[in-house]
Amino acid sequence: MKKEKIVLTYGTFDMFHVGHLRLLNRLKNLGNKLIVAVSSDEFNEIKGKKTLIPYDQRALIVEHIKCVDMVIPEHNWEQKVSDIEKYDVDIFAMGNDWEGKFDFLKEHCEVVYLPRTENISTTQLKLELNKFLDIYEK
Ligand code: CTP
Repeated sequence: MKKEKIVLTYGTFDMFHVGHLRLLNRLKNLGNKLIVAVSSDEFNEIKGKKTLIPYDQRALIVEHIKCVDMVIPEHNWEQKVSDIEKYDVDIFAMGNDWEGKFDFLKEHCEVVYLPRTENISTTQLKLELNKFLDIYEK
């Protein structure tokens, strides 16, 4: 019997937005089970990235998105190969801002990059929020 097709993706998912939701829905459609690795606060610190929402809350939100079957923490850059083996992953997939960056995983599973949703990102939301506060808090 053919086993279910398992899809794995990684991300920060800070200030969860519709670009995240659309990506996760499309990723789930690539297989039967979607595993999402959410970056830990400690890993973000190493990357010099500051999130507005702490790990526990980002993970909880992603875990409750309908198409998501499992959330795991992302602690470092190196864990991808062991995660692929541990969870018997068939497809590693990311948005195409990462195009080509994970091609080295092709010897372990299929690697797919999907187009991002245009005109939305956490960075852009933070900029909009700053502009909003500038206008309304004066
Ligand atoms: N993503 C997407 N479309 C968007 C924004 C993000 O498809 N408009 C995808 C990314 O390509 C990635 C995943 O969602 O595979 C998680 O992205 P993340 O970096 O957490 O979100 P961004 O909004 O891109 O955050 P930032 O601006 O901090 O990079």
